[in-house]
Amino acid sequence: MSRASRYQGKNIIVTGAASGIGRAVVLRLVEEGAMVLAVDLNSEGLQGTLASAEVLAGSGGRATSACLSVTDESAVREAIGSFVKSTGHLDALINMAGILASAHTAETSFETFMRIVQINLGGTFLCCREALPYLVESKGNIVNAASTSAFFGHPYMAAYSASKGGVAALTQALSREYMASGVRVNAVAPGGIATPMVAAQADNFPAEADMSLFMHLSRPDRQLGEPEDVAGVIAMLACDDGAFVNGAILRIDGGTHG
Ligand SMILES: NC(=O)c1ccc[n+]([C@@H]2O[C@H](COP(=O)([O-])OP(=O)(O)OC[C@H]3O[C@@H](n4cnc5c(N)ncnc54)[C@H](O)[C@@H]3O)[C@@H](O)[C@H]2O)c1
Repeated sequence: MSRASRYQGKNIIVTGAASGIGRAVVLRLVEEGAMVLAVDLNSEGLQGTLASAEVLAGSGGRATSACLSVTDESAVREAIGSFVKSTGHLDALINMAGILASAHTAETSFETFMRIVQINLGGTFLCCREALPYLVESKGNIVNAASTSAFFGHPYMAAYSASKGGVAALTQALSREYMASGVRVNAVAPGGIATPMVAAQADNFPAEADMSLFMHLSRPDRQLGEPEDVAGVIAMLACDDGAFVNGAILRIDGGTHG
């Protein structure tokens, strides 16, 4: 099957779609023929994603958007329900919405810790919960955003790492719980992808951070991956090419954590 037709007739929801990896996923899936609901709280970024998707519309794919926070229970329920009502079914949910903040752990407020966990883990849970009844109907699948930080001890990112460890555990719990229903649940674990999140992070390490603690986590050539490197793997996981992949947490880091 050609790249242009792998997602023909497929309806997919992508969160975090206004930027970085989420935007690259929307564009890749539209290019492959999917009908995509792009979800984010950044309306300007969403418009940029839709404009880029428009250029690819010749493939038969199309994107619409919903501007909301993935932590807003009723908005998430409404957006997923309306998308399924208008398209007929849901084939996959790609949860990429997330935030990153770094700090010395002893100086991290409980409020900051909880905010990161609420968005990264709580938002992923909510979207999964609301999409699952539709995915059971279609025997669809979910791809979540974990991170290498969940497994390899990224300093100054305790809250973020804990939230991503939670996403990995949530992914594996759901994959087993829904296996008999024919729903697959996987996650990607990127490490060092050139996105606005990582660019902002570079300027925001805490004062007196010991950057040598990161040396074993980066490539000798300091090369980062591109959002498209992750989007291609997600596109494989979320269609029939990934039919026998379930409960996997796929590391996408160019070997830095090997
Ligand atoms: N870039 C990396 O190196 C890297 C590594 C590991 C994991 N990840 C994960 O991949 C995902 C995408 O990251 P990215 O690098 O593309 O970052 P990004 O900042 O470019 O994109 C994240 C998007 O999530 C959206 N978002 C944040 N909070 C939201 C909320 N409450 N509701 C809806 N949308 C919200 C933002 O507006 C933004 O558009 C994140 O979950 C991130 O943690 C990224």
